[in-house]
Amino acid sequence: MTCTQWGRISMSFSFGRNLVMHVFGESHGALVGVIVEGFPTGLRIDEGRIQAELDKRRPGTSAMVTQRKETDQLKILSGNINGISTGAPITMIIENKDVDSSSYVDFKRRPRPGHADFPATVKYGGHSDIRGSGVFSGRMTAALVMAGALVRGYLDDRGISVEARLTQIGGYAIEGRLPESIISKAKEDGDSLGSLAACTIEGMPVGIGEPMFESIESVIAHAMYSIPAVKGVSFGAGFECAKMRGSEFNDQYRMEGGKIVTTSNNNGGILGGLSNGMPIVFHVAIKPTPSISRPQMTVDLDSGKECEMTINGRHDPCIGIRAIPVIENLTAFCMADLLLR
Ligand SMILES: Cc1cc2nc3c(=O)[nH]c(=O)nc-3n(C[C@H](O)[C@H](O)[C@H](O)COP(=O)(O)O)c2cc1C
Repeated sequence: MTCTQWGRISMSFSFGRNLVMHVFGESHGALVGVIVEGFPTGLRIDEGRIQAELDKRRPGTSAMVTQRKETDQLKILSGNINGISTGAPITMIIENKDVDSSSYVDFKRRPRPGHADFPATVKYGGHSDIRGSGVFSGRMTAALVMAGALVRGYLDDRGISVEARLTQIGGYAIEGRLPESIISKAKEDGDSLGSLAACTIEGMPVGIGEPMFESIESVIAHAMYSIPAVKGVSFGAGFECAKMRGSEFNDQYRMEGGKIVTTSNNNGGILGGLSNGMPIVFHVAIKPTPSISRPQMTVDLDSGKECEMTINGRHDPCIGIRAIPVIENLTAFCMADLLLR
């Protein structure tokens, strides 16, 4: 089988309306970066905060994540003078230092099950960068963290907090600590684990968001499905709503300290696409890491023959662990974008 050459097709990496991010770079190229447009002038740019958020996502920090060793040192290249935004686009980058592309060269010919190798090789006529999975790498999410961490101070000043956490790994509920034995066992088996994250936004004023296409759900879902490996997003009671009666599901109103609140939060803080003043609550399902070292079946794209493959290299046993700061900061970016509309 030969790959279909569709002609010149470029890739698209922009997100946001008033606050817009443009992501660039590759996993094993020189760098990963982001340009943020629309960040108001005269606001503090807290490099320490952005670096701290990057450090939470950084690889090589424990036995529970990929052993790739990267410093992920933030560099702000534009839009910033002495820690204050000028109003010009803000360019932020991290360089790629610990690069070993040797285990990836074969994936264009023998695509990994569960990864982007096959459709990307076909779509881009074999020209897309396969090194470290190129633009399809989880490393690209460092750009989302930088863009989101930039606006955290803007949200803090308005009393808005965003917090994401893992609630399940491989079907096991997480209470406090990560279930290290379950993760180590999956690793020993040459396997990986799926996970579930929860995210809560508190302090959003009533009435932020738009009906229909720019609803808070639409904006968050668009953002979350842009994170590689995310396969499900649900708001409030989520899919459980399908089993419920209106009398059970409706969030009834009451007064608390002079404020209108609801007795339950099955709608996840969103009605008609707008914030209703309750915490905005959603869940994100993250699939198991596709690159596992167990033998798997694939097809050799040159010969068209089925063949077995095993994958070596440094991979996350559970993507969810490092996806948490991505979910949190990207959600912060969405909220700032909605507030700036
Ligand atoms: C933080 C993060 C880390 C990731 N690490 C890996 C990894 O080590 N190995 C791997 O095969 N995929 C990893 N992925 C997932 C792939 O990038 C993703 O599954 C692939 O691009 C296919 O996209 P899809 O799963 O959204 O369909 C990671 C994703 C994220 C968000």
